Amino acid sequence: MAEVKIERLPKLDQETLERLIEIYMRGYEGMREYGGEGESYAKRYLRWCWNKAKDGFFIAKIGDEIAGFIVCDADWYSKYEGRTVGAVHEFVLDKKFQGHGIGHVLMEKCLEYLGKHNDRIELWVGERNEKAIKFYEGYGFRRVGQSGIWVRMVKDVRKGDNSSGKN
Ligand SMILES: CC(C)(COP(=O)(O)OP(=O)(O)OC[C@H]1O[C@@H](n2cnc3c(N)ncnc32)[C@H](O)[C@@H]1OP(=O)(O)O)[C@@H](O)C(=O)NCCC(=O)NCCS
Repeated sequence: MAEVKIERLPKLDQETLERLIEIYMRGYEGMREYGGEGESYAKRYLRWCWNKAKDGFFIAKIGDEIAGFIVCDADWYSKYEGRTVGAVHEFVLDKKFQGHGIGHVLMEKCLEYLGKHNDRIELWVGERNEKAIKFYEGYGFRRVGQSGIWVRMVKDVRKGDNSSGKN
């Protein structure tokens, strides 16, 4: 696999949005209940992510192709925590790029970014999405609750600590 470059998404133009939708749809193939609600949902959701967390919208590129992305929000009011925490709103790789270590590179970037602003990170993951749950556990996220089919996971970070805490 060629070298992975992580960039902050500079703008969400039509062409980029279409590629992100494609990644999202392909990335969740076989897990429709967690991310395959259809293209028009994906379009609205990804625009919402962009508007909510532009500064933490990171893409992974292999050559000129976007392989996947992570959306990190440093200013998320968690009603479960009763305060502002960091949040990972979306994290997905195109199917053909999964399992090559690119997710690790994106997650490192996310933790570096959120670690500058937050002392706790929250995310929600599908209860049957064992691969992703294991992936997050490897970074020290722990399950703290569930709502419907979604498991809530949190990780404490020390502000300014750049180490990921990966086991
Ligand atoms: C979860 C996801 C973002 C991880 O990215 P990735 O590039 O595939 O992960 P990496 O190759 O960096 O790391 C793979 C590690 O995660 C696990 N893993 C998670 N998803 C995997 C997948 N689809 N294929 C292979 N390994 C996967 C492996 O066990 C591996 O563990 P290891 O590093 O201890 O060997 C990616 O698989 C994906 O897009 N999945 C579908 C969407 C999703 O579930 N997103 C998270 C929702 S909250």
